[in-house]
Amino acid sequence: MKRFTIFSLLMFLVAVLILPVSASAEKTLKIGLGDPIDSDQGVLALRFKEIVEKTSGGKYKVDIFPAGQLGDEQKMVKDSRRGSIDGAVVAVNNITPFAKSVGILTLPYLMQNFDDAVKATTGELGDKWRAVLIKEAGVHVLGWAYSNFRVLTNSKKPVKNLADLKGLKIRVPKNAIMIETWQALGAEPIPMAWPETFTALQQKVVDGQDNPHITNFTMKFYEVQDYTSEVHYLFSLQPLVVGEEFFQSLPAEDQAMLTRAGIEAQQFNLLFSVTKSEAAKQNMIDKGVEYMEVEDEDQWSKLAMEKVWPKFYDTVGGKAEVDNVLKALGR
Ligand code: MLT
Repeated sequence: MKRFTIFSLLMFLVAVLILPVSASAEKTLKIGLGDPIDSDQGVLALRFKEIVEKTSGGKYKVDIFPAGQLGDEQKMVKDSRRGSIDGAVVAVNNITPFAKSVGILTLPYLMQNFDDAVKATTGELGDKWRAVLIKEAGVHVLGWAYSNFRVLTNSKKPVKNLADLKGLKIRVPKNAIMIETWQALGAEPIPMAWPETFTALQQKVVDGQDNPHITNFTMKFYEVQDYTSEVHYLFSLQPLVVGEEFFQSLPAEDQAMLTRAGIEAQQFNLLFSVTKSEAAKQNMIDKGVEYMEVEDEDQWSKLAMEKVWPKFYDTVGGKAEVDNVLKALGR
């Protein structure tokens, strides 16, 4: 009887002292987005959250901070690396300042369609960028958002050909390859962080900017832009990254769970982008933005590739590296 009482007492102490500790061992992941929650970045992050919270049985919670609440995208990459936040979804062009080799993915006219974008981020190439980003930027890619091509919007004039670009002030991310590309095409690129872009367009500090239809619509750029020109110089890829130090601090089974959640969220995002891009384009038109195709895009691609690529071979790891990626894309 006495032994039973001591045993019961011990069990009671275990329940009171240990169980609350394991309950409070729940980890909340703090993930930032550059774009609003209804963007394709948001779709990737929300799906990731749903899967992680469900499959971890409550051990992990994911809190998402959209629309630059945690700072601009380049800051979020740095903060993920040093661990002051757990991760972020950011445009690849906002990671390349910390991982120069990934600049290959921002070479103008490298990717020509969704197929290329998927090939460039899965299989051997997917593994390659994951390793490069760990080594150079200290972040671990869990999944990619496929945001479609960055199209040009502006408030000044219809842009249908290269000549129309002359003198057009275009906000660009602080990304050397993109700055050089718009210069090569004859525009006036003005590097600026993403959260400042809407106000700069509104106050006409710049005339235009480039981002995919879904981004343009969810950012409400129809309020400050009058024209959209369909161009295909850059397929926007937006990885979901977490700090590599944080990732390595987790048990192997948790790493595997996050990795699986990232892959599933990536597939979900791909379906979303493929099916919703056209609707976003139409939504912009419905809001009064004039839409046009570009007449001489073969000249844009020729100019951009001839003038920009050779300048960046060394920065991105050599011409052979670029050729390897081209080969993997089947060209
Ligand atoms: C940029 O232009 O800086 C980014 O592409 C914006 C975004 O995250 O959508």
